[in-house]
Amino acid sequence: MDEIKRIEQLRKELHEHNYKYYVLNQPTIGDQEFDFMMHELQDLEAKHPEMADPNSPTQRVGSDLNAEFKQVEHKYPMLSLANTYNEQDVADWYESVKKGLAGEDFEVCCEMKYDGLSISLTYVDGKLTQAVTRGDGVHGDDVTANVKTIRSIPLVLTPPASDDLFAAPAYPREFEIRGEILMPWNVFERLNKEREEAEEPLFANPRNAASGTLKSQKSSLVASRQLDAYLYYLLGEELPAEGHYENLEVARSWGFKISEGMKKVKTLQEIYDFINYWDTERKNLPVATDGIVLKVNSLRQQRALGFTAKSPRWAIAYKFKAERVCTRLNEVTYQVGRTGAITPVANMDPVQLAGTTVKRATLNNEDFIKSFDLHIGDYVYVEKGGEIIPKIVGVDIDQRPIIAQPVEFIKRCPECGTPLVRYEGEAAWYCPNDTGCPPQIKGRIEHFIARKAMNIDSLGPETVDDYYRHGLIHNIADLYDIDVQQINGDGSRTKSAQRIVNGIAASKEVPFERVVFALGIRFVGETSAKLLARHFKNIDALMNAGIEELQEIEGIGEVMAKSIITYFHTEENLKIIERLRNYGLQMELSTVNSQLSTKLEGQSIVISGVFAHHSRDEYKAIIEQNGGKNVGSISSKTSFILAGENMGPSKLQKAEKLGIKIVSEEEFLEMIG
Ligand code: IVH
Repeated sequence: MDEIKRIEQLRKELHEHNYKYYVLNQPTIGDQEFDFMMHELQDLEAKHPEMADPNSPTQRVGSDLNAEFKQVEHKYPMLSLANTYNEQDVADWYESVKKGLAGEDFEVCCEMKYDGLSISLTYVDGKLTQAVTRGDGVHGDDVTANVKTIRSIPLVLTPPASDDLFAAPAYPREFEIRGEILMPWNVFERLNKEREEAEEPLFANPRNAASGTLKSQKSSLVASRQLDAYLYYLLGEELPAEGHYENLEVARSWGFKISEGMKKVKTLQEIYDFINYWDTERKNLPVATDGIVLKVNSLRQQRALGFTAKSPRWAIAYKFKAERVCTRLNEVTYQVGRTGAITPVANMDPVQLAGTTVKRATLNNEDFIKSFDLHIGDYVYVEKGGEIIPKIVGVDIDQRPIIAQPVEFIKRCPECGTPLVRYEGEAAWYCPNDTGCPPQIKGRIEHFIARKAMNIDSLGPETVDDYYRHGLIHNIADLYDIDVQQINGDGSRTKSAQRIVNGIAASKEVPFERVVFALGIRFVGETSAKLLARHFKNIDALMNAGIEELQEIEGIGEVMAKSIITYFHTEENLKIIERLRNYGLQMELSTVNSQLSTKLEGQSIVISGVFAHHSRDEYKAIIEQNGGKNVGSISSKTSFILAGENMGPSKLQKAEKLGIKIVSEEEFLEMIG
C-alpha cells in the first residue's frame, strides 16, 4: 500500500478507536496497538508534510470531559507519561536522565502503573475539598461528590500528635495528591455477572467500569460499586520531603493508600529486576496494572530535568507485554454494528487471561479469518491487547483436527436476512438494509440523539433500545411523536417522562448544521455537515444538489457526494425529513448565527499544536464566530497560524518558507479581545 493511502487509513482507524475509547467507553483494541498505529502515523506525516491536517488524530489530545459535571482548571496540568515497551527503551531513558543530570548520581523510584482513571485530590487544612478527573489535562470534571464515596480515600486527615517526637511530618495547609481510581477485579467480575443476568451491556474491562461508575450522576450508585484508589504523586508548595518516595511514605502515614511494592533503586539492572518480578507477580494484585512507572526520585533533580510539552523527562512508563493463552475455537458468530458492518466473533473454550475469564474474541473481518485460515476446532492463541478486548493472534496448526471445516463467512445478515455487500476498498461486509435492520435503526437513533448531534441527553442507548423493542419508535422522526402518557408506564414516572419529552422538544432549536450531521448520512461527519449546511443554506437546496455541485465543495469527495445522493434518493429518508420539518426542526441556516465580531473577516487561519486555554474545537468555533475561516493546511493563502505548544516541525518549516505569521494562543486571544 502506498504511504499516502496508509496515512488515510490510519487516520480513519485511529479516529474510530478514539471515538470508541473516549465517547463510547468501549475500546476494541489495546493501548499498545493504538500507540503503535499512532507512531506509524506520526512518522508518515513527518515524511509527508503535504498531507498535514489539523484534524489528524496525531493533532488530538484526548479528553474525557463530561458536560454534566462542573469543569475546573487544574492548578498544575495533568500530564501523561511517555511509554516504552522494551528494555532498550528503558536503558535509553536511563541514559538520557544521566546526561540531563550531567553525570550526577541519581535514584529511581519504581512503582506499579495502575490501569484506571487518574484523579487529582486537593486537601486544604486536612480536608478533601476537590476531586478532579484528568479531562484534557488542563481542565477536568469536578467529581468530588462521587469520589467521596470511595472508602479508601480519606476525607479528613488526622493531625499528628504534637507531643510525639516520632510522628510523621504534619501535612501542608494545602496540597494535591494524584493517583488512580480503580475497580478491583473481584468487584468487576461480580458487576459484569449481574449485568449479564440483567441483559445489560457488559463492561470491557475494570477501567471502563470504573470510568462509567465515576461519571455517573448518582453518587449512591458510585458508593455501591466499591471503587478503590491508589495514590502516586504528591504536589504542593511545601512538601514534607525532598524525595518522591519519601513524600509518598509520609502521605501513607496521613492515611492514603500508596502504590504497592514501591521501591527505590539505583542501577539499570535493579530496574530490570523490578520489571521482571512484577511482570508475573502483578497477577496476584487485586487491581489491574499495565506496566511499571519509573521516576527520578529527587525533586531537585526532577526540576532540573523538567518537562517536554506532553510529559515529564524525569519519569517514564514501561508497558507490560500482553499475556497470551491457547484455547479451542468452537464457533464463529456475527454481530451487526450501527453502520451495518458485520463483525465476526470467535466463541472459544473459556480460559483465564489477564485477570478475567475469556470466551469470546473479535475476528475483525473476513480477511482476518482468511489470513489465519481458521477452522472450527482450531486451537488459537489469544491476547488482550493492553488487557482489553481479547483478540486472536495465531493458530496452532499442529493441533488442527483432521476433519476440521474452514470458517465460512456468512452471506446474509444474521439480524434481518438481507444479502451482505462489500464496498470497494473496505474490509468489512455490510448489511445494506439500513432502514430495516434493527441494530442499524437503533444505531441511527443513538447517533441522532448524541451530544454533538441533537444533544437529547434525556435519552440514552438503553431507553432507545427499550422504546424500539416496545414498538414506540422505528426511526428518528418517531421520537417527536412520543408523549408523556406513552412512556409513563404504570403512571409512576411522570417526572422522568416529562423530562424526556421536554428534552426531545428542546432539540427543535438545534441549529441546521447539526441537524444535517444528526441525519446520519454515511461518511458525513461533523465538519462535512457544517460545510454542507453553509454551502446550501437549507435542506431543500441540499436535497436537490447534484453530484457535481457537491464535489465542488472543498472537503467533500466523491465517496461522500455519492452517499449524500443515495441518502436523498431513498423514499424512506425523504418521508422522515418531511416529518422532521413539520415538527419544527431547523431546516435552514440561521441568519442570526452566533457572529460575535468581524475581526477575522476574510482571514484563513490554520490551527496547530496543543492549547492551554481552549480546546481545538473551541478555537475553531471562535474563529468562525469572529468571521474567520479555519482551514486545514498551510498554503500561500493562509493569513496566519494559530500555534499552541508543540507545533509540528513540518508545519513550522512550511510556514517559514511561505513567510506566514505565527500567532501564539495569548496573542490570538488578545487579537479578538
Ligand atoms: S505519575 C507527571 N505514577 O498513567 C507524572 N502515573 O501515562 C504523572 N498512572 O495519567 C503520572 N500509575 O493515570 C504515575 N504509579 C503511577 C501511575 C501513573 C498509573 C497513570 C496516570 C497517568 C498515566 C501516564
